[in-house]
Amino acid sequence: MNERQLPRWGELRPLLRVKPVEWNPTRRRLGKALTIADLRRVARRRTPRSVFDYTDGAAEGEISLRRARRLFHDLEFHPSVLRDVGDLDTTTSMLGKPAALPFAFAPTGFTRMMQHEGERAVARVAARRGVPYALSTLGTTSIEDVAAAAPDARKWFQLYVWRDRAAGEDLMRRAAAAGYEALILTVDAPVAGARLRDLRNGFAIPPALTFKTILDGATHPVWWANLLTTPPLTFASLNAWEGTVAELMNSLFDPTMTIADLEWVRSCWHGPLVIKGIQTLDDARRVVDAGADAIVLSNHGGRQLDRAPVPLRLLPDVVEAVGDRAQVHVDTGVMSGADIVAALALGARAAWVGRAYLYGLMAGGERGVDRAVEILDTEIRRTMQLLGVRTIDELTPAHVKLP
Ligand SMILES: Cc1cc2nc3c(=O)[nH]c(=O)nc-3n(C[C@H](O)[C@H](O)[C@H](O)COP(=O)(O)O)c2cc1C
Repeated sequence: MNERQLPRWGELRPLLRVKPVEWNPTRRRLGKALTIADLRRVARRRTPRSVFDYTDGAAEGEISLRRARRLFHDLEFHPSVLRDVGDLDTTTSMLGKPAALPFAFAPTGFTRMMQHEGERAVARVAARRGVPYALSTLGTTSIEDVAAAAPDARKWFQLYVWRDRAAGEDLMRRAAAAGYEALILTVDAPVAGARLRDLRNGFAIPPALTFKTILDGATHPVWWANLLTTPPLTFASLNAWEGTVAELMNSLFDPTMTIADLEWVRSCWHGPLVIKGIQTLDDARRVVDAGADAIVLSNHGGRQLDRAPVPLRLLPDVVEAVGDRAQVHVDTGVMSGADIVAALALGARAAWVGRAYLYGLMAGGERGVDRAVEILDTEIRRTMQLLGVRTIDELTPAHVKLP
């Protein structure tokens, strides 16, 4: 047995570490968040319930989203060992241009409502980090203002198909004039999905001052102060609206659209065309035959059809069928850099993230979005090294086994 002794100051002193105090509360909060799930927890505390639920929630029983996240969770990585992974390169090319990281910021509506810095903050982080950003038709900052806030960002514009075709054409013209590179046509929303959390919370745009929301103001005073002291929440692409999100979507979107309408889009938009919301092999083939430059396998983050196919599951077959003619991207359920690496290994050119950066935004504005990217970046690098690859091209389906 070792003899015991009283600790001596000389031995204790080298063990004492005084951490520098971070006085800025946002930085302190963000610094403690090690994962996107941590950012989500901070976001939940700092945002009114109905707004957090609008962002975090999905349609009906939220099965589509749960299944997508579960597949990422359940897959197995197969690493190669004894490879030199000292020098790592995470760059790739998306839609013909370089990207520093193999993911993009997916289009999300009403971003300024989640946190007042909104789309400008996301675009600035996109520029700084070399991540492309798709601005939504339902964005709350105009096409031109986003471009002015981040002239160096790679910007794409997402379009829903409008009943009013002239309005759609006008948006495409404005996006092209403001330097947006690609058009993302979202095709999984002929009508709005049933977001039950929103209905239960009485969620409306702009947030209505009801007894419930006024009560909420007492617990989220900063969010409300920011909402009420920044320009009103109008839409970038349409006139003011008052009502639920579902009513808004149903009034705008054209449920009669067919594949023949892609010709109309093609005639108005001369850059790369990306079709977002493909959920079967057959549709992947159809839109690529019709001239899509890229497709996004996506079920809209589970916010439209519930019990929809899990995009990651579909990926290998779609890549095999159309990968030589169009880029295949994927989204829904990405919560970590390891998820992104898995998608790339299964053949995706890029993964798109939606909620991951919105949790960052709600947790700490522009700095929070930056923290989200930093977390994903670190996780991508570590996962690649642990898998034994140095470049994105070295990732292969052999690195991932789906259950
Ligand atoms: C709050 C929110 C708003 C969204 N708004 C749009 C939109 O306006 N247009 C669109 O094509 N997709 C929209 N999406 C779907 C995203 O582009 C993307 O497909 C989805 O978020 C991916 O899933 P993830 O959140 O699990 O990453 C939205 C998603 C969220 C969470």
